[in-house]
Amino acid sequence: MFTIGKLKIKSPLFLAPMAGVTDHPYRTICKHFGAGVVYTEFVSANGIIRENIRTLEMMKFSEDERPLGIQIFGDSPDVVGKSAKMVNEMFKPDIIDINYGCPVPKVTKSGAGSGAMKDLCLMDEITAAVVESVNETPVTVKMRAGWDKDKIISTEAGLRLEKIGVKAITLHPRTTSQKFTGQANWQLIKELKQAVNIPVIGNGDINNVDDYKKMLESTGCDAVMVARGALGNPWIFRSILNHINNKPEEYEPSLKERIEVCRNHYELLKEDKNSIVCLNLTKKHFSWYLKGFKGAVEWRRKFMYANSVEEVDELLQLFEKEVN
Ligand SMILES: Cc1cc2nc3c(=O)[nH]c(=O)nc-3n(C[C@H](O)[C@H](O)[C@H](O)COP(=O)(O)O)c2cc1C
Repeated sequence: MFTIGKLKIKSPLFLAPMAGVTDHPYRTICKHFGAGVVYTEFVSANGIIRENIRTLEMMKFSEDERPLGIQIFGDSPDVVGKSAKMVNEMFKPDIIDINYGCPVPKVTKSGAGSGAMKDLCLMDEITAAVVESVNETPVTVKMRAGWDKDKIISTEAGLRLEKIGVKAITLHPRTTSQKFTGQANWQLIKELKQAVNIPVIGNGDINNVDDYKKMLESTGCDAVMVARGALGNPWIFRSILNHINNKPEEYEPSLKERIEVCRNHYELLKEDKNSIVCLNLTKKHFSWYLKGFKGAVEWRRKFMYANSVEEVDELLQLFEKEVN
């Protein structure tokens, strides 16, 4: 167990923020399988201060998702600071996380997301504005290694962020120019962990229990954060938890369990979204869940061609009958 500020973290398994993915239904599923801390996707500070309805929707969560972090991004210290205050008062998350990792040019060009990797003074100012606006709620940061391979700044940035009052840092040790290519350089997580006294959460390329073990051993990080390895595979959290609790490791769900998760996820989406969004997200998640069994390609294709939630309902019932 470790703490982020005063928040006690019981499980060192974090579900990463993922745009278009980590909404209330998916977070609920991952939590069920053992994710210890979950995050919203990144939310625009500008959208928050304008009280844009869709932006505010992205931050809603239920009590059983706690501990939960809301991740925000922006380029203006004043706006990001104000947005953090609003988020804190309106939603009372357990953590407010600042995104310094998004590599998308539309975001970075003004200095937001991993654009801050190029301007540590701006990063300092944004972070200080957030820390000052939220009293007790711990502020954390998720960042990359640097802008490109000639400007690796994660350790220097970490030391500056700690001084400003950040309570934990997640490092995804790829550069902005790498985007998602190549391998994450875990050595930089080790370097950061040795340099700072706040918890360091290691992120990048954890796809199974072995990766978890290697990340912990090679970096000494306090917790790990999983993103792509959990797409269609919330069982990754159960597998890692099994390892932590000295139980048999890699959890391989039966086809029946896979379909049960499809059903649960779909029901949660129906409750949470309008039918068009529900249909699109069902297709997206099902294309990840429905892999690795005989007939998977055909079932994926059927769901992909569904034109309505009613069709999804029928298909799911057929699928359930076939397996039971
Ligand atoms: C679909 C998708 C959406 C993402 N959205 C966000 C986001 O909103 N905020 C963020 O900090 N990182 C985001 N990321 C990056 C991940 O959180 C993570 O840092 C990265 O994928 C590396 O971890 P992994 O190797 O476990 O996937 C996203 C990644 C993916 C694949």
